[in-house]
Amino acid sequence: MTKNILSSLPAWRQLADHAKTLALPENHLKFLLKESGRLKKFSKKGAGLWLDFSRQRLDDKALHLLLELAEDRNIMGRFEQMMGGDHVNVTEDRAALHTACRSFSNKPVLNDGKDVMPEIRRIRNDIKSFSDDLIAGKITGPSGMPFRDVVVIGIGGSYLGAEFATTALQHQADKGIRMHFLSNVDIDNFGAIASKIVPETTLWIVISKTYTTAETTANTLQAVKYITSHGLDPKNHMVTVTSKGSPGDDPSNPVLKTFHMFDYIGGRYSVTSAVGGVPLSLYLGYDRFEAFLKGAEEMDIHAATTPAQENLPLLAALISVWNINFLEYPAQGLIPYSSPLSKLAAHVQQLSMESNGKSVTLDGEPVRVSCGSIIFGEPGTNAQHSFFQLAHQGRPFPIDFIGVLNPCYDQYNGLSQGVTNHQELWANLMAQAQALAVGKEEDPSPAKRFSGNRPSSTLVMDDLSPKNIGRLLAFYEARTVFEAFIWGINPFDQYGVELGKVMAGDIRKTMAEKNKNPDYRFDNRDEIQKFYLEMLFG
Ligand code: F6P
Repeated sequence: MTKNILSSLPAWRQLADHAKTLALPENHLKFLLKESGRLKKFSKKGAGLWLDFSRQRLDDKALHLLLELAEDRNIMGRFEQMMGGDHVNVTEDRAALHTACRSFSNKPVLNDGKDVMPEIRRIRNDIKSFSDDLIAGKITGPSGMPFRDVVVIGIGGSYLGAEFATTALQHQADKGIRMHFLSNVDIDNFGAIASKIVPETTLWIVISKTYTTAETTANTLQAVKYITSHGLDPKNHMVTVTSKGSPGDDPSNPVLKTFHMFDYIGGRYSVTSAVGGVPLSLYLGYDRFEAFLKGAEEMDIHAATTPAQENLPLLAALISVWNINFLEYPAQGLIPYSSPLSKLAAHVQQLSMESNGKSVTLDGEPVRVSCGSIIFGEPGTNAQHSFFQLAHQGRPFPIDFIGVLNPCYDQYNGLSQGVTNHQELWANLMAQAQALAVGKEEDPSPAKRFSGNRPSSTLVMDDLSPKNIGRLLAFYEARTVFEAFIWGINPFDQYGVELGKVMAGDIRKTMAEKNKNPDYRFDNRDEIQKFYLEMLFG
């Protein structure tokens, strides 16, 4: 599969040489941007999104070589294999079939020879009837009052994507449900939620593929204690989303309803499964969840079938590889000029860093090139007032700007300095992309000079409809796996999170041992300090 070493491929070597040419002063972005027809060449539309990558430090030759690399690595072929159920997750010997979750086609999708679609459709129907009934007040707790608060317990891939989508779609949350996320084992996360909810009208959704994650287990126990301490029964107030046969799918421990998730869908790719489906359908209504799925499906089809030179997530992946491996940027900023997209960076951070933060190839050999990128971000313009000083004059990093043409709350249209807030937002997005690219070198004071030549792309969407949020989600999923297919790594396992978990287990055991002594207290500075020294310095 990856026997031919990536860095010795002709396209890779030529890219490395060409990067030196592009580093010459005459190829500064301020000059590249003067080329006529550049925007037309370096921007593409597809699946409802528009990607402008004219402010990347690219020229025709670089793009041509990157496309040649994509061809050499057969990344579209690998994408097709992934969607077709091949065991692309080689270390766990599994398929990666998140795309099947949003397929509305009649075609079967085979996993080990068995069509997964009937099961996926059944779960979608279950989600629909459960959410319809709960919203209609047909499913209630014993009080008979409709559920008003939903607390989602889960962490990592069993949390971040659902939080991103609910935050992005909050403007359509008209079902009278308040959504809370209990991810951190920090008791302050629990306490803050407990202080806001009414026990009789609260539904708890425990989301965990394994149902053994320490944080989720601890938070579930807190929830059970909270429910019972209010004279209620967890079986009337809890729903689980988990793998078949996990401890959360145990008939001796009944809950209101269990929805299954499957080993062929990884946590960070699971937003379009029941993981996102149950909370989103309760929050927005099932129809909007289905529109979200259809947006994701449209992007999957675009990624799978559009020629490489017109394929948005594939081009974005090639740009990542160019920036990481040839221009040697270690990080990437994700800056949506849209407050409801405030959780996008956190979701893509996990999606990308847990998928591609790898050091061995599919054959278990060292990758020998840098993989993955440090992803971070905040909405603009807030980001401008926090870390953009470094973006402009400190260590450079490429940025994805995301612009939304129509805001959700267009009715508030007062003017400040002659423009609406939405216009002000767009003025800033455009100005930042341009300032980073062209800079300003002529100022008597060195502290006021801007070197420019700082790359960015701008991704534009019409509005924050469920369909567009689905498209955006699937765009970043496809970009992530295309990057991995170039590097020849497995974007579907996450062994890197294990060592710390094991070590925490050892420390936990020592703590539990000490807790057996009724006089032992952990909650004071001296004891914590002593314990810290004992554990970490022997
Ligand atoms: O620690 C990482 C991780 O394993 C993620 O990959 C996963 O999404 C998360 O923990 C939660 O796992 P689970 O769904 O099994 O609780």
